[in-house]
Amino acid sequence: MLSRRSVITVGALAAMPRFAIGQTAKIRIGVMLPFTGTYSSLGEMGINGLKLSLAQHGNKLGGRDVEIVTLDDESDPARAPSNATKLINGDNVDILIGTVHSGVAMGMVKVARETNTLLVIPNAGVAAATGPLCAPNVFRTSMTMWQPAFPMGKVAYDKGYRNVVSITWKYIAGEESIAGFKEGFEALGGKVIKEITVPFPDVEFQANLAEIAALKPDAVFTFFSGGGAVKFVKDYAAAGLKSSIPLLGSGFLTEGTLEAIGEPAEGILTTLHYADTLNLPANKKFRGEFKQAYGKLPDLFAVQGYDAGELLAVGLGAVKGDVNAKTELFASMERTVLDSPRGHLAFSASHNPVQDIYLRQVKKGQNEVLSVAAKAVSDPSRGCKMMPS
Ligand code: PHB
Repeated sequence: MLSRRSVITVGALAAMPRFAIGQTAKIRIGVMLPFTGTYSSLGEMGINGLKLSLAQHGNKLGGRDVEIVTLDDESDPARAPSNATKLINGDNVDILIGTVHSGVAMGMVKVARETNTLLVIPNAGVAAATGPLCAPNVFRTSMTMWQPAFPMGKVAYDKGYRNVVSITWKYIAGEESIAGFKEGFEALGGKVIKEITVPFPDVEFQANLAEIAALKPDAVFTFFSGGGAVKFVKDYAAAGLKSSIPLLGSGFLTEGTLEAIGEPAEGILTTLHYADTLNLPANKKFRGEFKQAYGKLPDLFAVQGYDAGELLAVGLGAVKGDVNAKTELFASMERTVLDSPRGHLAFSASHNPVQDIYLRQVKKGQNEVLSVAAKAVSDPSRGCKMMPS
């Protein structure tokens, strides 16, 4: 079988016009997301956001019809490389989009780099993807875990909190989220006095909540998301901690979870690159159209999936649908500035979003924006050696 590389170096083919092969073929996009497990609602919101964007472009990218192949990655890192390889080799996808879980995203990045397949990450925040493993063909429309967590350090310090306990799942995204908060908080003079972790995706928090009650910190900082976030916020209130020890988080905690949590979520302060009430024309339009299409309001995960579609629409538009015109395609994507529902969205040289981080508070079941916690936040992308295209 010819590899992609050998196809473009065959002399006879090189002389043929672009798309002599497969000119009318559809662009195939392989989407890996969790459709089961604790992150299933994130996967559903992500794909619905993506589909809304594609539908608004007539289900075409750069003039070519688009076909989506979906795969439930079950947030299982062990199977990620074989799942991504199956999409590329078995389903012949041209582009990969995914995923939510950082461990699974690491497997996708590995395969994308080995095959030079374009990968757009619509959620997972692992630093390495746009750090040491950054690559011309790897883009992210979400964030690093550091981005929303770091600014919460100053918010917490300014509230007068000095001793904070952190709690999260023991895997890379949780650890990097806590590290981001800690960096911001301790630089100002605060102290993370205890870092509690539970195995992913466990939701038995009783012993941990008893420990937090005994430690009596000024506040608790947390990363949980999806089904686990619902359980944690409810248990926190049921343990009687809500009124005595403020609960803070990266905003994932209260995205897509508010209806299921109900009253115990009210008042929680978080920082994130989106808020339901952002008073921006693009946000209002998006929320209306999403509700119209799916019968419920979107959350951050829908926004990030939508923006993955929007980024591809610009890039493939620039190369008229030629997925093999990689240099031009990546250069165009890199230069793209989106009028996202979250606000102005540009990309750093490492292909990670540069974006505002908002301070939000849950009020009447919505994430209300209070202020901009940090403007145009760019991840330091430590370890990324890539030059701009
Ligand atoms: C991640 O694993 O990177 C992750 C998962 C859920 C979130 C955010 C990040 O809400």
